[in-house]
Amino acid sequence: MSKKTVLTGITTTGTPHIGNYLGAIKPAIEASENPAFNSFFFLADFHALIKCHEPERVAQSTREIAATWLALGLDTDKATFYRQTDIPEITELTWILTCQTSKGLMNRAHAYKASVDANREAGNEDLDDGVTMGLFSYPILMAADILMFNADIIPVGKDQIQHIEMARDIAGRFNHQFENLFTLPSAQVDEETQLIPGLDGRKMSKSYNNTIPLFSSTDELRKLINQIVTDTRMPGEPKDPDNTLMHLYRCFANEAESNAMRQRFIEGIGWGDAKTELFEYIDSKLSSPRTRYNELMNDLGAVEEVLHKGAERAREHSAPFLDKVRHAVGIRSLTDTTRTQQKVVKEKEKSGAEIARAEEGRRRAILMQIRPLLDRVEQAEDKAAAAQTLIAEKTAEVEALKKKARQKAQNELDLLTEELAALL
Ligand code: TRP
Repeated sequence: MSKKTVLTGITTTGTPHIGNYLGAIKPAIEASENPAFNSFFFLADFHALIKCHEPERVAQSTREIAATWLALGLDTDKATFYRQTDIPEITELTWILTCQTSKGLMNRAHAYKASVDANREAGNEDLDDGVTMGLFSYPILMAADILMFNADIIPVGKDQIQHIEMARDIAGRFNHQFENLFTLPSAQVDEETQLIPGLDGRKMSKSYNNTIPLFSSTDELRKLINQIVTDTRMPGEPKDPDNTLMHLYRCFANEAESNAMRQRFIEGIGWGDAKTELFEYIDSKLSSPRTRYNELMNDLGAVEEVLHKGAERAREHSAPFLDKVRHAVGIRSLTDTTRTQQKVVKEKEKSGAEIARAEEGRRRAILMQIRPLLDRVEQAEDKAAAAQTLIAEKTAEVEALKKKARQKAQNELDLLTEELAALL
């Protein structure tokens, strides 16, 4: 069996914290030690421009995240480690994929929808207020990152699952339209590491302002751990071992150590003592990578060098692969007359099951569009009257439309009539 490719990127907008380490970097480095996988890890600095318009912050975050991976022991002989913007093929592929991606797919992206919802709630007439084209088409850049290296497995947080599904969608469409060039990727979400708690017990996240920077100084680390929110039980009183301190401890410790610590909570260790233990434990685990990190941050030329080597290696794949993609879509030398082997699947060659699946997909897509209308009827006092008004309005809309738009509206009307049949 050929090796599977694991690929993941980190957007360079912040200082790496303990949640990033435990949730993303540590498992990725471990996977890269496994000879069954090819690993690609990168700094998503073009992604940073989507949400951050502070150049110094983007630049500094890129330094910090690069140094962090290396300080934690990433072996760049085993994993291909690079900066997204060092691979020009990714941006080129982004455009080619943009031309294969329906706008409707992007309309459904969570990040975009969240902005639209926020505008709606704020009573803003322009629902796209503050939405850049970068934010809107963000999933296409991410698809290019993934499809460029034919990655199979994408370890991500839950919030990114939809983007991997979109990359699959886009790949499938390209493969169908032109040539079977792209691997369909799958998201890999580790439930355990999704739940690393921050200072206030909620998930550790920059947006909650509850993070512990991975390479804080010893003093800073002690100070932050002392801020972890606990209950008011006194020393000597038994404590619930399912608490934030214990949870963080367990993320670093082995099973025997964790069990011993658990026992101490049950026996009533004081919160202050428990914080000291946790601090000392984490500090001991992080002190040698911290030293390495500080060395690297003082020798950024060497880090830059490592990134260049990684980019060179990545481009050994991306450059010839992009040539194939360009050829497949018709971007060629004038003298190149080889043809793309397009697969034309005729409707009558489709099996019954395929037709049923296509029909079901079509139905679901329309349902998604008309869901708010159905909800409105559902919430109306007089459901039957609301249903009849809605159907009458939609019928009038269908009649006013030109042919193509009409077919779309007609489909919606048909399905609305079907869904509301009991009320009509
Ligand atoms: N968008 C991802 C995030 O914010 C980062 C990212 C960019 C990524 N490209 C990727 C992750 C490709 C996995 C694969 O977390």
